[in-house]
Amino acid sequence: SPAADRPAQILAWYDRHRRRLPWRALPGESVDPYRVWLSEIMLQQTTVQAVGPYFTKFLARWPTVSDLGRASQDDVLRMWAGLGYYSRARNLHACAVAVLTDHGGIFPDTEEGLRSLPGIGPYTAAAIAAIAFARQCMPVDGNIERVTSRLYAVEEPLPKSKPEIVALAATLLGPARAGDSAQALMDLGSSICTPKKPACSLCPINDDCAAQVRGDQETFPRKMPK
Ligand code: ADE
Repeated sequence: SPAADRPAQILAWYDRHRRRLPWRALPGESVDPYRVWLSEIMLQQTTVQAVGPYFTKFLARWPTVSDLGRASQDDVLRMWAGLGYYSRARNLHACAVAVLTDHGGIFPDTEEGLRSLPGIGPYTAAAIAAIAFARQCMPVDGNIERVTSRLYAVEEPLPKSKPEIVALAATLLGPARAGDSAQALMDLGSSICTPKKPACSLCPINDDCAAQVRGDQETFPRKMPK
């Protein structure tokens, strides 16, 4: 099927198969940027499974970013204990303080504005901009790198191919549903387009996946020899 249909095919698959995760709004529910930010910081170096209980605990104790900004750093660090990479917790608190004091408790709604906050790099800014603010941004994590590099059979190895993969991944954004498009590719990468033995028969875009046509899916993404 034509490449122009891919965003719609991906979104239709997501509507049927999306993972129910504690930080995802239900269809029709409004998206809370605080929840999106909190989950994306926790997910930076930690699995979806491990993040779940921490996300719930934080949200119960500090329901808004302003509540978190008024907490002490020690309380935040204590609540973070067990998640690891503690600089994330210090940045999390510093970011909440900055949103509270410099932005009146309202998150900036652009990729650039988000980038200016502590602990928010290019990936996280794109994720929040897409998921919370419907900006046409594609946050490219390992899952999305794999899906995209297979779909287009990107021969150039990572890390050199990163800009090419980011540009190709951006073509998969649905016009009005950037956040769902991104999370669809994350789910596709974690459940179907897996590193080993991908379940291509279940993939909504298998008919125009360049790697699956050739049968060498597992060789993508190409990586520079160590
Ligand atoms: N990893 C990082 N962000 C994620 C999200 N929004 N959903 C699932 N996995 C993720």
